[in-house]
Amino acid sequence: MTKKESKNDDNFMEKIVSLAKRRGFIFQSSEIYGGINSIYDYGPLGVLLKNNLKKAWLKEMVQLNDNVVGLDSGILMHPKIWEASGHLEGFSDPLVDCKSCKKRFRADHLLEAEGLKPDFRPSEFKKHDLKCPECDGELTDVRDFNLMFKTFMGALESKTSEIYLRPETAQGIYVNFQNVFNSMKVKIPFGVAQIGKAFRNEITPGNFVFRMREFEQMEMQFFVHPKDADKWFKTWQERRMAWYLSLGMDKKKLKFRDHKKDELVHYAKQATDIEYDFPFQDRELEGIHNRSDFDLTQHEKHSKQDLKVNDLEAKEKYIPYIIETSGGCDRATLAFLIDAYTEVETRSGDKDAKHETEVVLKLHKDLAPIKVAILPLSKKLDKEARQVYDMLKTERMCDYDVTGSIGKRYRRHDEIGTPYCLTFDFDSLEDKKVTVRDRDTMKQDRVAIEELSDYFRERFNQ
Ligand code: GAP
Repeated sequence: MTKKESKNDDNFMEKIVSLAKRRGFIFQSSEIYGGINSIYDYGPLGVLLKNNLKKAWLKEMVQLNDNVVGLDSGILMHPKIWEASGHLEGFSDPLVDCKSCKKRFRADHLLEAEGLKPDFRPSEFKKHDLKCPECDGELTDVRDFNLMFKTFMGALESKTSEIYLRPETAQGIYVNFQNVFNSMKVKIPFGVAQIGKAFRNEITPGNFVFRMREFEQMEMQFFVHPKDADKWFKTWQERRMAWYLSLGMDKKKLKFRDHKKDELVHYAKQATDIEYDFPFQDRELEGIHNRSDFDLTQHEKHSKQDLKVNDLEAKEKYIPYIIETSGGCDRATLAFLIDAYTEVETRSGDKDAKHETEVVLKLHKDLAPIKVAILPLSKKLDKEARQVYDMLKTERMCDYDVTGSIGKRYRRHDEIGTPYCLTFDFDSLEDKKVTVRDRDTMKQDRVAIEELSDYFRERFNQ
């Protein structure tokens, strides 16, 4: 069965969700209590995969760029930030409720489903006289529902102690703009990159980790002279696309989508999404935005601090424009899982396997949670095989697996995307060599134990 056919299955997402649970990648949060909607936990292999993804992003954005530095700001910030950023007023979804069945819907989704322009101003919405898609009941007027989670800081639960969980990591960078500029040897153009949790009380969460209420973002804010904004917007668009491709994502499944003027969010002057062809309707993987001087101007106004830069080269004092690249760790993790998922004819030799096909997760080597699996052919070889494991695990993430038939162990490692399986057999005791199987080519090499480190260093490029 080819990769394409298997992904067109109606139940393809079920296969991904089931694999993610069965093999310890992603679990429904609070499952023993019946679960909590749209929150997920990363299991032992999921956390390795997601951390590898974050490492690859930080390498691309910070390590390989002289002019991008890192930051880790708080999740809770001064509530005035959200007033300045426009989130208190503008970060909302337009909602309607059904007066009969009490179900809640996003007004823009209802209009879209009818092929109408998503103009949800109450007067416009009323004109269409839409009914509840579930029970045909009457709908309420459109109301704005703010997506920010609110909590209280300190002992008092009052209006003055209200505080929000950040809905994007970006603002933590803007309010530290001066600190970074003054403490580091940076000059315009330069960027600040940050990975961290963000929270949104999404009305229509779903599609597994695609749309959650607690998720993680990888954002980079690039500060430029206003006249260079268009050039940098284009540059970052291309570089971000190249990053997904460099980690093996299928080029045919990726594309850019420019936002039309009437769909731009309140801070954006121009926006493009990098879209992945997910097996459901939503597509956005990452957004690249020209935020103009909107954010820093707003923070200057609300904080009464001077946030202009004195650009000695341009001999000008100005508020820089911001080009933002904003990706989701969870969406990227899901896209890489989907992209890597491949069904092949049975190949592991696992006699207990109930299906005619097996799953191979063809993850890029940099992303694979386990890099090398050490599989002794018999429990009697435990001591010597473990010595090989002890040596290799100091260099990269390895797994030592001695239980079950060798076929079963191969199948497990194919399913979790382990690029190399190494078998230690009885001959290994004599010739001091092991057999290394390549996940993708199925080629087997007989390699001297003392040469294993070099062998893998060459293949992992590190
Ligand atoms: N700072 C700009 C910003 O936050 P966004 O388009 O709202 O822009 C950026 O979000 C990225 O964050 C999205 O492309 C997506 O990858 C991720 N993201 C947003 N909401 C999400 C959610 N509810 N669950 C998972 N990922 C989400």
